[in-house]
Amino acid sequence: MIVIAHRGSSQLAPENTLPAIKQALRDRIEAIEIDVQMTKDGQVIVFHDEWLGRTTNGNGFVYDTLYAEIRRLDAGKWFHPRFTGTHVPLLAEVLKLLKDHPVTLNIELKNNLIDYPGLEKSVIDLVHRYKMENKVILSSFRVDSLQTCLSLAPHIRRGLLCWGTLDPFFSNHAWRELQLYSIHPHVALLGDNLRLLQQEGYYIFPYVIERKSQLTLCQDFNVDGVFTNCPRRIKKLLRQN
Ligand code: G3P
Ligand code: CA
Repeated sequence: MIVIAHRGSSQLAPENTLPAIKQALRDRIEAIEIDVQMTKDGQVIVFHDEWLGRTTNGNGFVYDTLYAEIRRLDAGKWFHPRFTGTHVPLLAEVLKLLKDHPVTLNIELKNNLIDYPGLEKSVIDLVHRYKMENKVILSSFRVDSLQTCLSLAPHIRRGLLCWGTLDPFFSNHAWRELQLYSIHPHVALLGDNLRLLQQEGYYIFPYVIERKSQLTLCQDFNVDGVFTNCPRRIKKLLRQN
C-alpha cells in the first residue's frame, strides 16, 4: 500500500505549498497529491479552494485574480506563524522541485466547481516540459476532463475521483472509455461495488485517511494506496502492523 501525502504533508506544513511538499520528501513519502487551478492570466497554480480566503491573506476567486497578485499573498501564516512568507506556488515550481526525486505526483485538476478552459492542456504541457510523464497521475471528479487528458496525453495515467456515490460507475459507462489507471473514492465508499471495480484491475486509492480505524478498513480491503494529511504517522502505523 502506498502512502500519498494529501496536499503535501499538510498536517505539518501549509497545504499545497513548497514547505508541505518538502516535508513529504524529507519523510520519504513515495507519492504526493496536489490540487491545481488557473489564474486570470492562465497560470497554473497549486491551490485547493476556488476562493483565496481560507489559506491566504487575500480574497476573491482564483480565476478572477492575476498570478502577480496571488504571488504577493501569504499562504503560510494562517497555518502557523513560522510559515509566514510562504507563497502560492506555480505548478512549474513543484514539477521542478520533484523531477529528480523518486516520487509519484498526483495532480488533481480542481475543476469540479469552476471550469477552467484549457487547464488540461496547460498542465500536460508542463508535465512534458519537466519530463514527468511517467511520474504523474492526473485526476479529476469530471469524466469529460479526464477524456480531454486521454486525448491529449494517453500515456499519462488518469484517476477518477468519486465521493457521494458510485452510481456514475454503474449507471453511466462513459468512464470506461477513459482507460483509467486508478479510482480515488471517498473512504466511505469502500464496499462491494468498489470491490468489483478492484477485481477488474483498477488501482484503488481512497481519501482521506486520518484515523487508525480507517487505515484498518483500507488494509482489510487491500487498497493500493491511501491519501492522508499525516503520511509520516500513517507510515509508522503501517510499519507496526
Ligand atoms: O484526491 C483526493 C482528494 O484530494 C479529493 O478531495 O477536496 O481534498 O481535493 P479534496
Ligand atoms: Ca485534492
